[in-house]
Amino acid sequence: MTDASLTPLTADQAEIQRTARAFARAELAPKAAELDRESRFDPALIGQLGELGFLGMLLPEEYDGLGMDSLTYLLALEEIAAADASAAVLMSVHNSLPTQMLLRYGSEEQRKRWLPPMARGEVLGAFALSEPDAGSDAAALRTQAVRDGDHWVLNGTKAWVTNGNCAGVILAMARTDTSESRRGGRGISAFIITPDLPGFHVSKKENKLGLRSSPTVQLTFDDLRVPADRLLGDEGMGFVYALQSLEHGRMGIAAQAVGIAQRALDLAIQYASERKQFGAPIHDFQGIQFKLADMACRVTAARALLHAAAMMKDRGESPGAYTSMAKLMASEAAMWVTTQAIQVFGGYGYTKDYEVERLFRDAKVTEIYEGTSEIQRIVIARSLRLPD
Ligand code: CAA
Repeated sequence: MTDASLTPLTADQAEIQRTARAFARAELAPKAAELDRESRFDPALIGQLGELGFLGMLLPEEYDGLGMDSLTYLLALEEIAAADASAAVLMSVHNSLPTQMLLRYGSEEQRKRWLPPMARGEVLGAFALSEPDAGSDAAALRTQAVRDGDHWVLNGTKAWVTNGNCAGVILAMARTDTSESRRGGRGISAFIITPDLPGFHVSKKENKLGLRSSPTVQLTFDDLRVPADRLLGDEGMGFVYALQSLEHGRMGIAAQAVGIAQRALDLAIQYASERKQFGAPIHDFQGIQFKLADMACRVTAARALLHAAAMMKDRGESPGAYTSMAKLMASEAAMWVTTQAIQVFGGYGYTKDYEVERLFRDAKVTEIYEGTSEIQRIVIARSLRLPD
């Protein structure tokens, strides 16, 4: 076994893991290469994940969710990612960002209105924080929201929005206070946006290196009139809400990275036992054995750190910078492991005939989105203290 969790799983956790694996292998894996080649999003995915309950895993049952803990959710997400990383990011963003923001900071009325259809997979969620000129420095965002009677009027452009063209609910951050004393994070508010609002436009679909069947778009708000009751939580607190939600989101991306890395390792092990050179399977050569051993160590270490962070959260403790550590380690492991997998496959791995090529392209973005590796290092460094 190379994919065992070092964490003892409960019967329920093991059951969800098996369900996710069976679904991913039967429904997602056979289509993943074609969707990637055609850069095509399959809208049926939303209903399929919804039917399994995988779009409401972290939501309480009163909102039609499964009420599961973070570890169970991450186990399922890893299985989805191993089959199709594009499907995994849809599931990760929806579960970690918009639904969690609504659950934590929404009024009871907002929660009742939006969460049940999101949990059932009838409405997909998206998260719009970044802008063309505000990526790592997210607090520099320039989208403005100005109060006008019973509405807020939003103007600006949001970038890198996963699911932005197929979402029914988008949690968007906009500046509500532009005074000098409120520069930075504190003058930013969060809004519940729906695509039916006048002034909502999908302005660009990105043509990406990887995750090609996951839509990533730019959104333009052109005098977008948002009813006042769509403000989430307290005015001016949207940036804090977004960063807090990203803490959870980063564990989802770590699980996605572990899934990609595990799949690359499995494929490399299989290929090394089948491919013969110099009269023997290449697995017999120490150069390949060492490579596979190092790959297995990195996948296992990344998963163990992720699961430890998730269990802290599930015990009610704040995992804080451990989520950034998990994302950093898992995404760098995924990039390294997929690079080694291509090396094991040699020239074949460099062609589109073999899955490791897609895994390598899909791995890269895990070092970039929901906070680059450099941003994770900043968050980790800020958390470091000398022992008492
Ligand atoms: N939980 C709660 N509050 C938090 C927090 C957390 N995890 N992190 C920060 N805050 C609070 C701070 O305490 C601070 O509050 P005060 O104003 O009361 O002091 C406030 O939020 C602002 O925090 P900072 O002062 O640390 O803000 P900063 O401007 O220095 O930025 C940063 C910090 C870590 C660099 C942050 O900007 C960041 O994480 N940048 C990366 C953004 C990112 O991950 N973007 C990804 C977008 S989503 C995406 O990728 C697309 C997709 O669809 C997948």
